[in-house]
Amino acid sequence: MSTRVDMDKIVSLCKRRGFIFQSSEIYGGLGSCWDYGPLGVELKRNIKEAWWRSMVQERDNIVGLDAAILMHPQTWQASGHLEGFIDPLVECKSCHLRWRADEGRGKNCPHCGGELTEPRLFNLMFKTFMGPVEEEASVVYLRPETAQGIFVNFSNVLACTRKKLPFGIAQIGKAFRNEITPGNFIFRTREFEQMEMEFFVKPGSDEEWLNYWLEERFNWYLRLGINQDNLRLRRHSQEELAHYARDCYDIEYLFPMGWAELEGIANRTDFDLVQHSHYSGKELSYFEEESEQRILPYIIEPSAGVDRSALAFLIDAYDEELAEGETRVVLRLSPSLAPVKVAVLPLSRNERLVPLAKEVYTQLRGSFMTQYNDSQSIGRRYRRQDEIGTPFCVTVDFLSLEDHQATIRERDTMKQIRVPIEVLKATLAAKLSGESIEVLPPGGMIWRG
Ligand code: GAP
Repeated sequence: MSTRVDMDKIVSLCKRRGFIFQSSEIYGGLGSCWDYGPLGVELKRNIKEAWWRSMVQERDNIVGLDAAILMHPQTWQASGHLEGFIDPLVECKSCHLRWRADEGRGKNCPHCGGELTEPRLFNLMFKTFMGPVEEEASVVYLRPETAQGIFVNFSNVLACTRKKLPFGIAQIGKAFRNEITPGNFIFRTREFEQMEMEFFVKPGSDEEWLNYWLEERFNWYLRLGINQDNLRLRRHSQEELAHYARDCYDIEYLFPMGWAELEGIANRTDFDLVQHSHYSGKELSYFEEESEQRILPYIIEPSAGVDRSALAFLIDAYDEELAEGETRVVLRLSPSLAPVKVAVLPLSRNERLVPLAKEVYTQLRGSFMTQYNDSQSIGRRYRRQDEIGTPFCVTVDFLSLEDHQATIRERDTMKQIRVPIEVLKATLAAKLSGESIEVLPPGGMIWRG
C-alpha cells in the first residue's frame, strides 16, 4: 500500500519534475490557475484517453461531442445558472459547501460546523463581451459546466446518429467558475477541465441507470489503480441537491485535506430538456417508434474533473521506500496513465554504447512515449524515472554489444530481466498492457495469463 503523502510534497514534486506550475509565475502567479508542464500534459492526456476509451470507444450507445465554450446567453437563463448563482453566498472554509446567506443559518456551516466566509453577491460565471465595442457588445459567459453544450445539441446528435434510448453523449472540455474559495492546489480552481456524459433514458428506468453508472464510474478509478480504501460513495442530502437534481452521489477520494468530491453522478430528470425546450421554443423530445409516442428522456450524468482526477492519481501513486540504504520516491501510476512509458538508458556515455542505445530509442519511441537519458550515474537515472512513474527502464550495456540483448527494469519491483533487442518492443507492449510475459534467453518468449 502506498504511503499517505501531504499536499506540499505533491506540489513540490509537480513543480520540480515538470507536472504542474503556477500560472503566470514570473508575474507572481494568478490566483488558483495552474499550468501543466511536459509531464503534466501527458498525465492529463492519458486520463482523458482512459475516460474516452471506457465511455465512448468501448460502447455502442455513447457518442462524442465538442461544443463551444461560449454559448448563447439564453442557455444560462434556461439552465438556471444566471438566476441560481446571484444570491448572496457564504461558503464553508473547510468543507466548501455553499449556502445562501439570507437563509439565516448563523456563523457556522450547517453541514460540518466550519467557519463561513462573509456574504457576497456572487455569480460564479465569468462574464465577457462578444463584439468589437464593449458598450454595444452582448454579454456572454464562459461555461461553468460542459453539460449544457450537450443538452442544446440533443436534437442534432439524435438526428444524425439515430440512436435509440438509452444513449449517451460524452464531452471533455474546459469549464470556468469564479470560485469563492479556490484552493488545495488543483483541487478547486477557476479554470478546469470536465469529463461529462449525459445519458438519456426512459423515465422510470432512471434509478436503475443511476445505479449502473455509480458502479461503472467507481470501478473505473479502481481499474486505474486507486486504492479502494481511499474511495467511497456519498449520497447527497435533500438540502444539498442542485436545483436540477432529484438524486446525486459523489465519488469521494481521501485527499490529504480529507474526503472530498472527485466526481458527481446525478439524476437530472428531464429538467434540462424541459427548460431548453421552453426557452428556445424547439421540441427537444424523443420519438419512440414502438409506442408511437414522444418522450422527454430523463438524464443520468456522471461528471468528473480531469484536474481533480490527476491530483487523486498522483496522491494515490506516491510512495516512499527504503532501497539500497536510501529513500526511493516512486510514483506507482498505472502504466496507462504514466507520462513516460519507457526510458532508454545506456550504462554510460561510452561511444560504443550510445549508437546502440539510440537505435533502441528510435525503435521504441514510435510506439511508446519514450525518454532517452545518458547523463549521471545509472542509479540516479533509475531514481529520476521512479519519481515520475516510468514503468520500465531499458538499459544497454557492454554485454548488449555482444549478445544483442537489453535489460528491462521494472519500476515497482526493481526486478530486471534481459531481453533480445528484436523482441523488446513486443515485450514492453505486452507488459504495458498488463499481460504477464516471461522472456527466456536467448530469444524464446512465453506469455502467461
Ligand atoms: N454538470 C454537473 C457539474 O458540473 P459539479 O459537481 O459542479 O457538477 C463536476 O462538477 C466535477 O467537476 C466535480 O466532481 C469536480 O471533479 C470538477 N470540478 C467542479 N468544480 C471544480 C473546480 N472549481 N476545480 C476543479 N474541478 C472542479
